[in-house]
Amino acid sequence: MEKGNSIYQGKAKELYLTNQPEVLWVEYLDQATALNGVKKDKVVGKGQMNNQITSKIFEILADQGIESHFIEKISNTEQLIKAVDIIPLEVVVRNFAAGSFSKRLNVEEGVELPFPIVEFYYKDDALDDPFINDMHVRVLDIASDEEVKEIKELALKVNEELKKLFASVNIKLIDFKIEVGRDSQGNILLADEISPDTCRLWDMDTNDHLDKDIYRRDLGDLIPVYEEVLNRINTL
Ligand code: C5P
Repeated sequence: MEKGNSIYQGKAKELYLTNQPEVLWVEYLDQATALNGVKKDKVVGKGQMNNQITSKIFEILADQGIESHFIEKISNTEQLIKAVDIIPLEVVVRNFAAGSFSKRLNVEEGVELPFPIVEFYYKDDALDDPFINDMHVRVLDIASDEEVKEIKELALKVNEELKKLFASVNIKLIDFKIEVGRDSQGNILLADEISPDTCRLWDMDTNDHLDKDIYRRDLGDLIPVYEEVLNRINTL
């Protein structure tokens, strides 16, 4: 496989073409951002942590029958993925109140929700990724009714598998965000990454944060925390 031109530089990843049209090359960067990019820092070692954590999680999900865009990890910081058209939605699943849910609805962080909920945010930096509902998704022609149903089902299925996976390494899955895309046949496929950048992970015994809230909230050094998550996941 040959690495081609860069086609996209995101906040924490850079995407390259390859000599195969349906395959892209991703590099995980040593960059941390928060507040939609307003807070931004170089964090040496973060790229390889997230690449390893995401790769391992996508492999475990595939074993459980949940396909994703992930093909293979090709180095500490790089993966090959299937090219998909990303649907401009941030799909958030919440098991416990935290973050924007707690702020918006005045529910204390850590309160368990009676059942997991799925939320949609419209992926648009200029608009600051606004919270939208199913009807907005239809009206803005982001996805069809059938796709919305499928995306919600997929998000809840991913939640069930991730809850089990993290519980087995003594981590409580508070909430997380996934992105989905359409492959060349129009099938919905899990995409992007699943890492401490995109999940809220609390230690089951201490409720210590094992995720990007360390950086967002200036709670300390991010690398030892991500290393802890990687070490625990590597025991699986
Ligand atoms: O900030 P909020 O509470 O809405 O975040 C919910 C979940 O989605 C958190 O796990 C957070 O890490 C993730 N998220 C993300 N990327 C964003 C916004 C939220 O990964 N742009």
